[in-house]
Amino acid sequence: MPEAHIVCFSGAMGRCCKLVIGLDERIGVVDPNIFGHFIEHLGRCIYPGIWVGRSTDIPNEDGLRMDVIQAFRLIDAPIIRWPGGCFADTYHWIDGIGPVERRPRRINIWWGGEETNEFGTDEFVKLCRLVGAEPYICVNVGSGSPEEALAWLEYCNRTGDSSYAKLRVENGHSEPYNVKYWGIGNESWGCGGSFDPVYYAWEYRRFATFLKQADPTIKLIACGHTSTDWNLRFMESLRNFIHLIDYLSIHYYFFRNLQRYGGDIDFTDEQYLNLLFDIQHLEYEIKQAISIVDFFSEGRKDIGIAVDEWGVWHPQATVENGLYQQNTLRDAILAASVLNLFIKYSRKVRMANIAQAVNVLQSICLTRDRETILTPTYYVFQLYRPHMGSIALRAEVESPVVREPTREDLISLQRVRRKLEPLKAIDASASIDPDGANLVITLVNRSLDEDFDIDITLVRGYDVREGEFASITSKNVRSYNDFDMPNNVRIVEEPVDIKGNRFSLNIQKHSINRLILKLSS
Ligand code: AHR
Repeated sequence: MPEAHIVCFSGAMGRCCKLVIGLDERIGVVDPNIFGHFIEHLGRCIYPGIWVGRSTDIPNEDGLRMDVIQAFRLIDAPIIRWPGGCFADTYHWIDGIGPVERRPRRINIWWGGEETNEFGTDEFVKLCRLVGAEPYICVNVGSGSPEEALAWLEYCNRTGDSSYAKLRVENGHSEPYNVKYWGIGNESWGCGGSFDPVYYAWEYRRFATFLKQADPTIKLIACGHTSTDWNLRFMESLRNFIHLIDYLSIHYYFFRNLQRYGGDIDFTDEQYLNLLFDIQHLEYEIKQAISIVDFFSEGRKDIGIAVDEWGVWHPQATVENGLYQQNTLRDAILAASVLNLFIKYSRKVRMANIAQAVNVLQSICLTRDRETILTPTYYVFQLYRPHMGSIALRAEVESPVVREPTREDLISLQRVRRKLEPLKAIDASASIDPDGANLVITLVNRSLDEDFDIDITLVRGYDVREGEFASITSKNVRSYNDFDMPNNVRIVEEPVDIKGNRFSLNIQKHSINRLILKLSS
């Protein structure tokens, strides 16, 4: 049925959408860590995306490249996960400390080439300190041992005269690092050791028992899966050890599907919509993970969900090219919609790490020799920054649909038993800061051909005194930033005149938008 043309508050006669924000309907605190990052010894991510060494004319601090650090700082990057990924379960941390000339070269069995170990624990923590981010270390379960993980924790977090704590001091770091977040293996169902969920649960219990005993202040992330069966069987085996889990992780890639999604910069309108339509599968996985952890832990422990790898993995990113791909406005629109999803589930989604920060997959920065450019996805993180630490509010959207489910969706994705939802043009999230002074609204218009007037109603309590508006868009949804055109896609700020508790806002086709509204009661 064609949608009716309704008159917006503004009097405009175009198709308009409605957004209702319940100022007293609080759904959770937006954990800053949902805007987290991930770096791995893979392709050109760490060398030279993060680490350029000290003997170079690329501006660096102790070998860490300053332009990338500055980019991280400007988005307040809250947490960085390292050293992998698949790499984590073959990594022996002891190889990466001490005098660089004595560090062994190892084979990177996952991503090829040799690992020089120039970038190790001390360099990683230094990176995090320069950025202002929390370090998140993923320990080696697959080819490692609880003893090795305990020694790593001791190296990072202990004071005193125990041998690994002293080793850190001898390496020039007198203060403990106090690393709070520790992952117990990576994708243990796959590259992390091909475990089954019950065997992994046994390993998890060993690692977690000792690590938590050695330092009860740390938070542990268990390796979950986008398979109900894995999560159920793992959690069932941990039923009596719930106190050992702080987060259950899932990974979600919109994974190399040339036919359905097209390529990184070369895709049809239909493929653009297919990619965005499939965000609902990530929502399904989040809901499944939440209901499983709630079922096994309710009333005993509040376990969070960490989507500690996510992003678009285009067919152009191969092991041979170090998983390098370009990143268009389409990817940014996807990232914004995914962040809206994390905000919607902020009651339980407490961490997320886009894969990967530099030169790999859905990067926020791309480097070439001395130069660094920021991708459209980077600007989404900059735009969404004011949501960090705020209180997520119910945001109800009424919007035209841009893509209906089809039979092919069910067949091609082999998800025959799932109910699929139409893709709405407009997607939104809202949060208010704890003292109720500022309301942040982020709105994505996923339509390829229509601008919309959005009628926004704030329910109860407050009026808007003044507002700021910023958006990311471009004439073409296939636009991207490259070394010869670094500012093709970026944030543009525009004046808005907004007052009261009902107002209209016009947003452009294929755009990501943010309103910051100052409130008075
Ligand atoms: O991010 C690339 C790889 O994807 C990671 O190493 C692995 O965890 C995932 O499968």
